[in-house]
Amino acid sequence: MSGAMAKAAVRPVAIKADPPTTHRSDDWKATRTSHRPGFLLPVVFTVPQPHPMDVFRVNGSRPLRGTVHTSGAKNAALPLFAAALLSDETVTIENVPDLSDIRFMAEIMRHIGADVERSDANTWKVHARKLTNHAPYELVRKMRASVCLMGPLIDRLRSAVVSLPGGCVIGPRPIDLHLKGFSGLGCGVSIEGGYVHLDARHLHGADLFLGGRHGSTALGTANILMAAVLAPGTTRIESAACEPEVVDLCRLLRAMGARIDGIGSHALVVEGVERLHGATHRVISDRIEAGTFLIAGAITGGDVTVEGARASDLAALLDKLRECGVPIESPAPDCVRVRADRPHSRKAIDVITMPHPGFATDLQAQMCALMAVTPGLSIITEKVFPNRFMHVPELQRMGADIAIEGPSAIIKGLSRLSGAPVMASDLRASAALVLAALAAHGESWIQRVYHIDRGYERIDLRLKRLGAAIERLPADQMPKHLDGEPG
Ligand code: EPU
Repeated sequence: MSGAMAKAAVRPVAIKADPPTTHRSDDWKATRTSHRPGFLLPVVFTVPQPHPMDVFRVNGSRPLRGTVHTSGAKNAALPLFAAALLSDETVTIENVPDLSDIRFMAEIMRHIGADVERSDANTWKVHARKLTNHAPYELVRKMRASVCLMGPLIDRLRSAVVSLPGGCVIGPRPIDLHLKGFSGLGCGVSIEGGYVHLDARHLHGADLFLGGRHGSTALGTANILMAAVLAPGTTRIESAACEPEVVDLCRLLRAMGARIDGIGSHALVVEGVERLHGATHRVISDRIEAGTFLIAGAITGGDVTVEGARASDLAALLDKLRECGVPIESPAPDCVRVRADRPHSRKAIDVITMPHPGFATDLQAQMCALMAVTPGLSIITEKVFPNRFMHVPELQRMGADIAIEGPSAIIKGLSRLSGAPVMASDLRASAALVLAALAAHGESWIQRVYHIDRGYERIDLRLKRLGAAIERLPADQMPKHLDGEPG
């Protein structure tokens, strides 16, 4: 950190997941202080911080060219933060993406008593010496991943009272499999007043099956794993999720002293230990972000190299891109290049989303955008979140020919889309709109880009470096006649 940054005036900022509607600040300023000597000394740093109500103006039809680096994975980092609560020693997490969801997770963890501080732009330290067992509705409802505080809380306190997260725009997101797992581990589970009450006085290892009607559960597996590592006895989890983010969690837990076998498979075996210690861990790179940049290269007929993209984590996407006629190279295990200079040779394909290693639901919306400008009839079937098609009506506003039939999008690919004002509804839907806008003829305006800021670190700047004509503007610079915000 530069001396100038250290001397910068500091204005503490309240971190919220909901969009503020008032002032704009160009710099996010934060203090890092500690109540306890020896842990964290007062430090000040500034990080550029977009305003949640910003809009994107995109002029499309330009091939992207160049190299982009993948950030740390949000969906790995969030459970890793929760796992840090399992020890009363310091856990240092590196390569954490600079995202609103991460800052919000830190806020919730502070609320339950942990010291959670950022030591530089991408490194966080968690020290959970003393915790309380209550995670309230007003915090949990804003970020679903906070349900995976349950596992660590019952380990540390033998009880937890955590709000149910409530509705989600991508469809129903029950936590019945989490609760089934806790119950199998000997917890008393009850729901009262919108809160899950867990009584873990008799926590013990057990044989569990965590498969559901849509397959395995990523956060459910994380939650139960975290509960099991400090539960006396052996826990066997069948139909466990094997997403790279779950593997990353297992790696941190092992580094903290947990005993876990079967990592990366659907059958995990955990031998409970008495305590976990501190550790330092580097978050894996974000396969969904990497996949989004690769599709950006493909949809614009560009030549994009994504560093940090692990081809093994992206096998299903790369397979589908090749099937579609997009040339893909992987010059190194953590680097993938898309050379799509002949967009007219692309052909329609069918895609079905599934838990890992199948085609990721988090890349479905982006793939819809690509198929919307790929001649022929494509069918994209969503098997993980069957209602996750909020991007479709907005893509239709850009001229896309897409019909929804049950869990499938039937896409008649066109030679081009036309720019339009559109509204982002959730993280991956917003990514799809950005991709479509990059490919479209003319100008697009994308509103509610705070959704994209939850999961992509300054995507506008990184696309700009690849040659995209994309600008982030304050909402009030959007022409009034294009503004789709109600009221
Ligand atoms: N499910 C149940 N019961 C449960 C839990 C899940 O029926 O108790 C169902 C879900 O409704 C869904 C399927 O199982 O149909 C898979 O859900 P999963 O539990 O795996 O989702 P999650 O763990 O809550 C994570 C990611 C999501 C990603 C999904 C699927 C985080 C913070 N979130 O959610 O990411 O879509 O896995 O891969 O890790 C995103 O990043 O945009 C996002 C939504």
